[in-house]
Amino acid sequence: MSAHPPLDDPDRLSSLDRHGAGRILIAFPSQCREALALTASPPLPPLAVRHLVVAGMGGSAVGGDLVAALARDWLPVPVTVWRGYGAPASLGPGTLLVAVSYSGTTEETISTLEAALRRGATGAVVTSGGALATLARERGLPLVRVPAGLFPRLALGYLFFPLLGVLESAGLRLTRQWERDEALRVLEVMGAELGPERPEAQNEAKRLALSLNGRIPVIYGSVLTEVAAYRWKTEVEENAKLLAFHGRLPEADHNEVEGWRDPLAAGFHAVFLRDPEEDEVAGSRVRVTGELIRAHAGGVTEVWPRGQGRLAQLFSLIYLGDWVSYYLGLLRGVDPGPVPVIEEVKRRLREGKSP
Ligand code: PA5
Repeated sequence: MSAHPPLDDPDRLSSLDRHGAGRILIAFPSQCREALALTASPPLPPLAVRHLVVAGMGGSAVGGDLVAALARDWLPVPVTVWRGYGAPASLGPGTLLVAVSYSGTTEETISTLEAALRRGATGAVVTSGGALATLARERGLPLVRVPAGLFPRLALGYLFFPLLGVLESAGLRLTRQWERDEALRVLEVMGAELGPERPEAQNEAKRLALSLNGRIPVIYGSVLTEVAAYRWKTEVEENAKLLAFHGRLPEADHNEVEGWRDPLAAGFHAVFLRDPEEDEVAGSRVRVTGELIRAHAGGVTEVWPRGQGRLAQLFSLIYLGDWVSYYLGLLRGVDPGPVPVIEEVKRRLREGKSP
């Protein structure tokens, strides 16, 4: 038997993480730094954007969610994050549609870009290649080509920061320089604190994973942090191969709180992603909701972001959740990287189409 606690045993970790998801997570802060320098070619034509749409699926849609969350404080134009085929009826001339797909082969996203171009929208693409890169080249669209070879969800730096750049060149500024600098600094500090080398006793991500292990996580966010709550849910599903749910306050207090009364709630663990800028009412709401849930839930945990700016706060919550879901996968004895069921769905749909 190993002398190490389960998450501090290097041999166990490397035998499970056969595809190196941990290495990608450690390198995430440098991925973000590198991604800030990636730009679109050709550049975006001058345009007055009346509606911004970010199209993507799964890990490639998260950048769009982050844009929508940041846009609340900054953008005078509506933002739609479109996950699916085709395009919303509101899309047309005056719309900037940015299609984001890490692989460039996601059929929903390709179909949205095609629909958008037919309707006279301005298109741009962020991808590592595939049919989406080909389409962008054929149509002369602004294309940010990001490095290939990662798991899409762990390429968030490459998928988000170039998107910020495309929007900025269209006059849609979402962050200031100090916020980007701060976000990178915060991520670098966290990278050193949360990696496998840091033992359980001093590692927030390992401790959280241990407390969630054996239960179904339900992650709550507020107006700002909901994007991170959704990301935690999807990361738990993809990295730990475990069902997870997310909810949003104050809405959950008008429906979901009743569900926690069921005895089955003992198998669920609520995690509240706090917002340091929440007002007193929002703070009391988290406290009251937590008190009511605690009587029935398997566990209740609160997590606070780091940093002063919104970008650092959101990325710190996301990066912590990425690590938590990674360790949860290892505790459950699975390889966090590959997503064979997602691949199988795509394969079967492709086969269903072939003659
Ligand atoms: O994380 C994943 O692997 C998935 O959620 C993918 O991001 C999703 O299937 C879409 O693929 P892509 O990101 O290549 O467009």
